Amino acid sequence: MEKYSQYRDRGTGIAPFIPITTQTSALHLPLAAVLFALRAPVLLTISLSYFLFLQFMPLGSLFQKGILWICMLVAGVFWVDLQVEGVKRGTLSRHPDKLPSPGSIIASTFTSPLDALYLSATFDPIFLVPSFDTPYVFQLSLLQTILYTFSPPTSKPYSTKPTTISEVLSKNPHRIIVIFPEGTTSNGRALLRFSPALDTFATQYKQSRENGHASDVGIPKNKIFPISLRYLPANTTTPLPGSYGVFLWRLLSQPSHNIKVRIGEAVKISELEMADDMLLATSSSETITEKTVARNLPTDERVPRTGALEEKVGEILVRVGRIRRVGLGVKEKIGFWNAWKAQGRKLKK
Ligand SMILES: *[C@@H]1O[C@H](CO)[C@@H](O)[C@H](O)[C@H]1NC(C)=O
Repeated sequence: MEKYSQYRDRGTGIAPFIPITTQTSALHLPLAAVLFALRAPVLLTISLSYFLFLQFMPLGSLFQKGILWICMLVAGVFWVDLQVEGVKRGTLSRHPDKLPSPGSIIASTFTSPLDALYLSATFDPIFLVPSFDTPYVFQLSLLQTILYTFSPPTSKPYSTKPTTISEVLSKNPHRIIVIFPEGTTSNGRALLRFSPALDTFATQYKQSRENGHASDVGIPKNKIFPISLRYLPANTTTPLPGSYGVFLWRLLSQPSHNIKVRIGEAVKISELEMADDMLLATSSSETITEKTVARNLPTDERVPRTGALEEKVGEILVRVGRIRRVGLGVKEKIGFWNAWKAQGRKLKK
């Protein structure tokens, strides 16, 4: 494993791209095989009919969500443990503002195809995956998002057109938007460095509002909800591209799965720390594009400090998800994946 030591975070010692392996005892193997054999055909049938026909039918969002919940039940996801920060268990109905609503943005952790499935079944959102080296995002369908959790990071997933969070928001004021700010999946042991899109959204937010471009409908409600999703057992995460078979086996052979959903306190852009000086605005991550963006602004207009939104959302995700933050991101995952493939080729020879 130490071959990949450069993809281990120096500060925390966490290696977020190495798949989580757990031993299956031989005793459980027959049960696992039976569960798999029973569930796989059912899941295949339901998901094929959903993605080929039902999702295009005018059946209503409730029905669509229902089918996705059935998929999760078939896969053994029987337990969803939901906690909302700042809300005592059992009193959620009295705090509707603590939950995402149309016009909200969800910034979610990204570890498994189950992320997209759960979020879709719960919020019926629009999914955005950020580009790792530009401030743009790509709008993906549920199926594309699920498949993306098995793909190596690319600069243009599924040839979709690059867009921005504000553009998607103003075109869809009555939807919830999910962005996976890390841009690629990890094994769930740590939170990766973010891609620039979320932060760019914050620094451009005021500008677009003042210029009157953004739709006024959504703006007051544009809260950002950090959501952490963790799975028990943890081996259903897919940090390694192409691991379809392994994932399905782990998902379907396990009697049951538990999702721990933690919804953090919503972040409002107007409450972020503001920048004192545009040109001082630099962050630890991708600065070139953000600096260009910042220079285009009139200097007397105050916008959030570059990096302020990333830090705030990251801090909340780390807190509610009880994970650590690492300095690795999409670029390191690409390097890791190339090293992993090269190692595989060597072993085959
Ligand atoms: C996944 O992890 C659980 C819990 O550690 C274990 O019981 C199960 O056998 C693992 N599944 C596979 C396929 O490794």
